[in-house]
Amino acid sequence: MNFDLSDLKNKGIQVNALHDFSVLHIENELASADICLHGGHVLSYVPAGEKDLLWVSRHSLYTEGKAIRGGIPVCWPWFGSVKSPAHGVARIRNWSLKKAASEADGSTTVVLSLEPAAEGLSAELYVNAGSSLRVELKTVNHGNVSATVTEALHTYFSVGDIEGVQVCGLDGMSYSDKVLNTEAVQCGSIVFDRETDRVYDDTDSVIVIRDSVLNRKICVERWGSNSTIVWNPWIEKAAKMADFGNDEYREMVCVEAANAGRDKVCLPPGASHILGTRIRLIG
Ligand code: BG6
Repeated sequence: MNFDLSDLKNKGIQVNALHDFSVLHIENELASADICLHGGHVLSYVPAGEKDLLWVSRHSLYTEGKAIRGGIPVCWPWFGSVKSPAHGVARIRNWSLKKAASEADGSTTVVLSLEPAAEGLSAELYVNAGSSLRVELKTVNHGNVSATVTEALHTYFSVGDIEGVQVCGLDGMSYSDKVLNTEAVQCGSIVFDRETDRVYDDTDSVIVIRDSVLNRKICVERWGSNSTIVWNPWIEKAAKMADFGNDEYREMVCVEAANAGRDKVCLPPGASHILGTRIRLIG
């Protein structure tokens, strides 16, 4: 990292070690946050006086070539298992710190870049931690042919108990159910009593995660995103994952700001795209 550590410290950022990885720890009056340079992975976002909005598995591996289980994995430049590695290369590569700043509103910004990223494409990640957490993933096509990208900010939210959670804001939206291999239309809010793995199409609506156990509501806004993935592995799938505790499915839900499934981003030469999300607690 080419940054002066004392300059970072003046901006409220410390560099900590997590196994072999470097983690930027942001601390300001509004919040704290941790961002791992491996994967450009936001691990934690704690608004002042509150509990973490993000969840990370106690069984996560912190190894080169593996994605951290939890936080906000950056799935890019493809989503899913269309190619190997699953969910693209960005979440298993090292990112560089490009910029760090304290903002006038008391929040803190860091900008990371992935270089070299993928053939002809570059990726930059903007993270701002304050009274909300904003994350933006910018893709630029530097090549001379058009490129197609699928992507997700694969956010793992921390919940009190999955059976006390409702995901609201997708009522009436059509979705592909990857567990049942069917297409369906959402009726009401999403509740969880089994494995859930769905891609909601044509949706950029604001989503609210209602948690009756932690007694809180998390608002998830998105932009440059036209699809949403909602995922919980439930019992059997959790038991098959080496980096996920058997009972941890109760503590998390993924609501992912995405361009995935039928929704793809086509970038002509020279074009760029921003996928963004903002998460915050609401009353
Ligand atoms: C979700 C997918 O986004 O990520 C699921 O819809 C997948 O199908 C899940 O199981 C976790 O993926 P991974 O590669 O991190 O285990």
